[in-house]
Amino acid sequence: MNIVVDIKNLSKAFGSHIVLDNVSLKVEEGENMVVFGQSGTGKSVLLKCMVRLLEPDSGEIYIEGINVLNLSPKELNNVRKHLGFLFQGAALYDSMSVRENLEFPLIRHFNFTPKEREDKIKSVLEKVSLEEAIDKMPSELSGGMKKRIGLARSIITEPKLMLYDEPTTGLDPITSKEISSLILELQKSLKMTSVVVTHDLLCAEIIADRAIVLNNGIVQHEGTITELTTSSDPFLRNFFSHEIVEDQNRRN
Ligand SMILES: Nc1ncnc2c1ncn2[C@@H]1O[C@H](COP(=O)(O)OP(=O)(O)O)[C@@H](O)[C@H]1O
Ligand SMILES: [Mg+2]
Repeated sequence: MNIVVDIKNLSKAFGSHIVLDNVSLKVEEGENMVVFGQSGTGKSVLLKCMVRLLEPDSGEIYIEGINVLNLSPKELNNVRKHLGFLFQGAALYDSMSVRENLEFPLIRHFNFTPKEREDKIKSVLEKVSLEEAIDKMPSELSGGMKKRIGLARSIITEPKLMLYDEPTTGLDPITSKEISSLILELQKSLKMTSVVVTHDLLCAEIIADRAIVLNNGIVQHEGTITELTTSSDPFLRNFFSHEIVEDQNRRN
């Protein structure tokens, strides 16, 4: 199996606050890896280190065999071209139409012709079932529709690796389920590998092939969702009973 993400002994502190303490993680090609952890454990920091929005203090991060910590800005840009990320609270540009929002990453990183760009925009809108929204402004879209367009924008360049930070946060349970299923569908049809940070057990159950639980700066647990949720480990039992209670509250 091809290893798409290989993180070795990654550490990151802010002053004396150690957030990641020798974290290692491998993600195989085509795999959906979910990252769990309580709020403030460093899940977003982990994703940000992977795309070099934050500089780790030590360790190595290989993406498709390339150590992203050793790259020139130009080489880094090249790696980022094949990476998609959907960050927490990622917003559409309010003053741009859906079409312009989707066109943005295509113009920024690639040299497609206007016709190629239009084809890609239409094709990605079809994938997220929002063809009719092409000329709308973000203010005319519901929360769930905005999420779908945000998702469309992050996959329009057909990245091999997708990083999601809390993709369903703030959505009602039905929309959250729809977005999770859509993520899974896109991942299968585009043959992507993904790392998904989430608090949403329902989302994880839909998406995850495997999951890790970050705690106190380390990968404390790793396994399938079933293995993790049925474990007798006291920390996991507490963590998941809390998550499940949260989830049930949302359903009610
Ligand atoms: N740029 C930063 N400067 C200082 N501290 C930060 C920065 N980014 C994150 N942190 C701290 O690192 C810890 C982990 O943050 P984060 O990865 O955002 O948590 P979460 O697991 O909820 O995504 C938090 O205590 C946060 O305050
Ligand atoms: Mg976060």
